[in-house]
Amino acid sequence: MKAIIQRKYGSPDVLQIAEVKKPTPGDNEVLVRVHAVSLNGSDWEGLRGKPLYARLGGLRKPNNWILGSDIAGRVEMIGKNVRDIQPGEEVFGEMAGYRGGLAEFACTSEKLLAHKPASMTFEQAAAIPQGAVIALQGIHVKGNVQPGQRVLINGAGGSAGSFAVQLAKHYGAEVTGVDHAGKLDFLHSLGADHVIDYTREDFTKNGNQYDLILDVLAYRSPFDYARALRPNGSYFAVGGSVTRLLQLLLLGPWIKRRTGRNVGILAVQRNRTDLLTSMELCEAGIVVPMIDRRYPLNETPEALRYLGEGHARGKIIITVVADT
Ligand SMILES: NC(=O)c1ccc[n+]([C@@H]2O[C@H](COP(=O)([O-])OP(=O)(O)OC[C@H]3O[C@@H](n4cnc5c(N)ncnc54)[C@H](OP(=O)(O)O)[C@@H]3O)[C@@H](O)[C@H]2O)c1
Repeated sequence: MKAIIQRKYGSPDVLQIAEVKKPTPGDNEVLVRVHAVSLNGSDWEGLRGKPLYARLGGLRKPNNWILGSDIAGRVEMIGKNVRDIQPGEEVFGEMAGYRGGLAEFACTSEKLLAHKPASMTFEQAAAIPQGAVIALQGIHVKGNVQPGQRVLINGAGGSAGSFAVQLAKHYGAEVTGVDHAGKLDFLHSLGADHVIDYTREDFTKNGNQYDLILDVLAYRSPFDYARALRPNGSYFAVGGSVTRLLQLLLLGPWIKRRTGRNVGILAVQRNRTDLLTSMELCEAGIVVPMIDRRYPLNETPEALRYLGEGHARGKIIITVVADT
């Protein structure tokens, strides 16, 4: 089968299209004929090998050469313990280990897949998994956003952020979106009430305070984030620098005891229930997967370059089968 491979960490130039062995599903796995893949910040990190957590699957070079986490396609074959999914069905979901999707076929755990509704294209379904589930858990499951609360989303113009802005508005919050100047109109179009250009203004130093901050990329000190929270407010980091994430883990409990403010990391629990809830929110039109651009599989390097250079508004789709 054809796949996009990276033998080493680096720029999009290290990516190649190559013929590789078609995977075989394990007992609890499903082999999917991939129709569409959506890109996330984690793909850019996995390509570069930065931050350090992006090298968990290979310190010097990636053990799994194929990037790609969010897929949608048709079931080709199932493992012997798979019960809920059958060959021929249309599914979408995530790759275990966030890799292996940018190929004609991909194997993943049954638990990370759900049935694709007929009303949705493969591209729309592929846009959902990682970004929408981060947003759902950050804004609703852990964030418990209530009407009238003030919510800030840092990194609001990307994959998870574009879902989070819409979801926070759905739950009745007053939403501030933070990203660079070129994405601020996009944030308004998602429903953000206020926008901040992170290249010009530091949201932790402007005197405003929030009930919830969902931070896609944490680069500041935990004390800065605590200062930007209302009493009893919560801050959740999704990704960012390893140093900052470790500081949050170590200092979070102490900050909580001293200030009552909750400062920590959102460790996303991947599960079919939240995947289905995210899909239902999209099907109902409450949340719209914002697809910026589509690229064919062989143009994945250009697609990742576009993402990594900071142009992507919402989701980038790789179309593997052109009839999607
Ligand atoms: N915690 C977990 O369990 C878990 C699970 C899965 C993924 N993740 C993490 O989630 C993160 C990616 O989220 P994503 O897919 O939404 O990423 P994304 O699509 O790349 O979006 C990130 C957004 O943040 C913006 N940005 C960059 N630097 C910024 C800064 N200093 N301040 C504010 N905004 C900034 C980017 O814009 P420009 O680049 O254009 O400036 C972009 O719009 C990754 O770090 C990934 O590892 C965490």
